[in-house]
Amino acid sequence: MESKTNGKELLSPVWTHLTEIEVVKGKGIYLYDKEDNEYLDFTSGIGVVNTGHCNPNIVKRIQEQATELLFGQMNCVIPSVTIELVEKLNSITPERIDRFFISNSGAEAIEASIKLAKHATGRHNIIVMQGSFHGRTHLTMAMTTSKTVYRHRYAPHTSGIFVAPSPYAYFYGWDEETTVDFCIKQLDLLLHGQSAPDETAAIIIEPLMGEGGYVPMPKTYLQHLREICDEHGILLIMDEVQSGFGRTGKMFCFEHTNVEPDILVMAKGLGSGLPISAIGSSKKIMEKWTPGTHGGTYGGGSTIPVAAACATIDTILEENLLENSTLRGGQLVNLLKNLQLNYPVMGDVRGLGLMVAVEFTDENGKPDGDTCAKIVQECLKRKMLLLSCGTYKNIIRWIPPLIVTESQINDAVSIFDEALYTILS
Ligand SMILES: Cc1ncc(COP(=O)(O)O)c(C=O)c1O
Repeated sequence: MESKTNGKELLSPVWTHLTEIEVVKGKGIYLYDKEDNEYLDFTSGIGVVNTGHCNPNIVKRIQEQATELLFGQMNCVIPSVTIELVEKLNSITPERIDRFFISNSGAEAIEASIKLAKHATGRHNIIVMQGSFHGRTHLTMAMTTSKTVYRHRYAPHTSGIFVAPSPYAYFYGWDEETTVDFCIKQLDLLLHGQSAPDETAAIIIEPLMGEGGYVPMPKTYLQHLREICDEHGILLIMDEVQSGFGRTGKMFCFEHTNVEPDILVMAKGLGSGLPISAIGSSKKIMEKWTPGTHGGTYGGGSTIPVAAACATIDTILEENLLENSTLRGGQLVNLLKNLQLNYPVMGDVRGLGLMVAVEFTDENGKPDGDTCAKIVQECLKRKMLLLSCGTYKNIIRWIPPLIVTESQINDAVSIFDEALYTILS
């Protein structure tokens, strides 16, 4: 029977798409369409396929798991592979984190972290950072301030959420020390003027702010948050949904500092493309989470994502992907900084590991979203996928799979150079 509509028209328009190419295959850092056109994927599906598309180790583990057990609902039984996963998570997280809860998406894990923080402290307010992105469910939307589009026409929003400024020095046009001082003062003001410490359950921060602009949070600011939290019994939650699993050259971004979270939120890179997320915290905190007050049908019980997560952690460690992330990230930043000398519109180049950003600003230092959008389109014409981010959509984020090679980084930067030349000359 002939279809009445083009299949694509059946998709809800609520999805935006970087491109409408229909992909049928993925291998390493490449995606392929029906005509076998090859696309250089520098998005990793927004930081998900850190081990590369269809990494053979992950595929093999999934195939093996599929023949053994697909589902063992956590409120009914405990799948053995889920024990294997929490043991692996325990081995890659700090000593203070030794209890884990598994769910399906980043937003779901953020929800879990907030519910845990509220139960463990008996307090109801949450402090988030300006520019944060924590998800699209009703609670996580209210915690998200990276762009108004995520909140528009969805009011009323969940109450008890307060926004502190982020130490984003390039945006303010200040040096790092001045910016951190300002943010510390503003946080103090917030704790005295709006959310008293004894009503504040948690402060949540992305140690490298993602959707809001790819901004590494200064170590001094994170240290300050740790001190404030310790002083007042507030829990420090780190959202490592995008920055985790080797993305910044460490297993978790907070390892670049000596600041550890009370609750760690993980997703994206954990499953190499399968839907899985997790939170980790201490026995002391988790024991305050009343049994039965949280859970879900699939989290931890759907064994294929769990098996994929086990294989992902093994692959990151066995294939030295942390080292590759650091080396290739360093190469990428150097090449981009060289290009910056020719193109002043590349206002800032920054990042850690393979979580790298180019921020476009005009001659007056104002965000230049137009140039950014044109560059993304020019790169697409040359079959390279790059995503933008930032409140003003003026930042290009570089997030290739962590298996990317030296020559693939060179190829990508050449394409970017051609795109810049085409748009700006
Ligand atoms: C830092 C951060 N937190 C939370 C989320 C939400 O994750 P999900 O889209 O899996 O719900 C994202 C997604 O981009 C993210 O980048």
